[in-house]
Amino acid sequence: MSQKFYIETWGCQMNDHDGERLAGLLEKQGYEAVGSSAEADLVLLNTCSIREKAVHKVHSELGRLRKEKEQRPLMIGLTGCLAQQEEEALFKRAPQIDFVLGTMALQQLPKVIEEVQAGRKRVIDTGEYPDNHLFPPEVARRRSTAKALVTIIEGCNHACTYCIVPTTRGVERSRPWQDIVAEVKGLVARGYKEVELLGQNVNSFAGGCTFSDLLWRVSEIEGLEWIRFTTSHPMNFTEELARTLVTNPKVAPFLHLPVQSGSNAVLKRMLREYTVEQYLERLGFLGEGRSKLALSTDFIVGFPGETDADFQATMDLLEAVKYDISFSFIYSPRPGTAALRLRDDLPPKVKSERLRILQARQMELTRASNDAFIGRTLQARIESEGPIENGAWLARTADWRNVHIASGPARLLPLGERVSVTITGAGPHQLFGELA
Ligand code: SAH
Ligand code: SF4
Ligand code: F3S
Repeated sequence: MSQKFYIETWGCQMNDHDGERLAGLLEKQGYEAVGSSAEADLVLLNTCSIREKAVHKVHSELGRLRKEKEQRPLMIGLTGCLAQQEEEALFKRAPQIDFVLGTMALQQLPKVIEEVQAGRKRVIDTGEYPDNHLFPPEVARRRSTAKALVTIIEGCNHACTYCIVPTTRGVERSRPWQDIVAEVKGLVARGYKEVELLGQNVNSFAGGCTFSDLLWRVSEIEGLEWIRFTTSHPMNFTEELARTLVTNPKVAPFLHLPVQSGSNAVLKRMLREYTVEQYLERLGFLGEGRSKLALSTDFIVGFPGETDADFQATMDLLEAVKYDISFSFIYSPRPGTAALRLRDDLPPKVKSERLRILQARQMELTRASNDAFIGRTLQARIESEGPIENGAWLARTADWRNVHIASGPARLLPLGERVSVTITGAGPHQLFGELA
């Protein structure tokens, strides 16, 4: 009987895709995927450590698995960013872990498992394998058939003072553009019509051409309909890329450009390398095209030393740009980061109140942005395998809005298909529509 595995993944799309790669490696070894940890002989916790909350989730899952392991044989492996960050210390805190595998050593998974099976305790590989990012393209077992995640660059050469990612993902390593084009061609041949190109900072892609060139090369692949990408650092957002985003019909009209704060003093302490004015100048590269795409960002509130005026500057920026969507977080101190040295004496209550104010205003802006679509007919790709709440199917527009499509009970909408939808209503989190 074959061994069964279950992977639980937290964090960003890149970690999600690493989970798909790990699943592919295990299937190659003869393991079989199952739907829950209760059915598995091997559980991988593919972790995130971007904020303290993400780490808590891992430890509570580890606590649950410890009890399971007392009842039956179970191998537990820790992968992802927390594995890379904490290394051996994890075994002390959670002795139920059999192995720790770092983000730059994914391909060592079979070897590490073999060592555990041979009876070795506390097996760890958090080494930096210089060819880890050249992951064989045909291995990954993608979970969604609607959209394929494709990593193009790993690591980050920036040094934002709050951020753990340079520690957990190392310096930038780009895949050669030819490998990426070949992988996407293979995906399209298997029926995928949409890809999302991934990197901690896709704009600094250096796999033999610029990121903008890469988008053009990928867009030439026949049968591919939409290309998405995430994430972009504003300082690497070029005029060339802005032009491509606005003019290439296959590049989905959505830009996530994290600003973090509207205060220059805070941006400086964050070491974001730009001022608000420079950020706005870069948005200006989009020109008239700006109105045709949805704009998204990330904010951190309650960064050490953030005054009322600093926070007001963030609210002013939100008002000036009118983001279609934004993701906002309270600053979370991360081990080993430079921001730990800054005095953080803002009461937690003030931080959560600022977050509440920002999110409430964003909700209104998103609602207004969604309202503008009522009555229009849009293209959207079906992302649910069946009807979700209220019998509607879930689809996503080119500019990343969720649409709930009321289809009527007789109509089956195939996952991954692009359909025309007439928008009949809007809320802060989704549009409502009918097949056109
Ligand atoms: N590479 C991406 C960011 C990845 S992390 C970029 O530079 O845009 C995603 C988001 O998490 C960041 O944009 C930031 O808003 C938030 N974040 C990162 N570290 C954080 C921390 N220590 N506390 C709170 N939020 C954080
Ligand atoms: Fe972190 Fe900054 Fe790099 Fe983004 S650019 S991953 S926030 S260090
Ligand atoms: Fe989390 Fe690592 Fe991604 S810290 S957000 S899983 S790069």
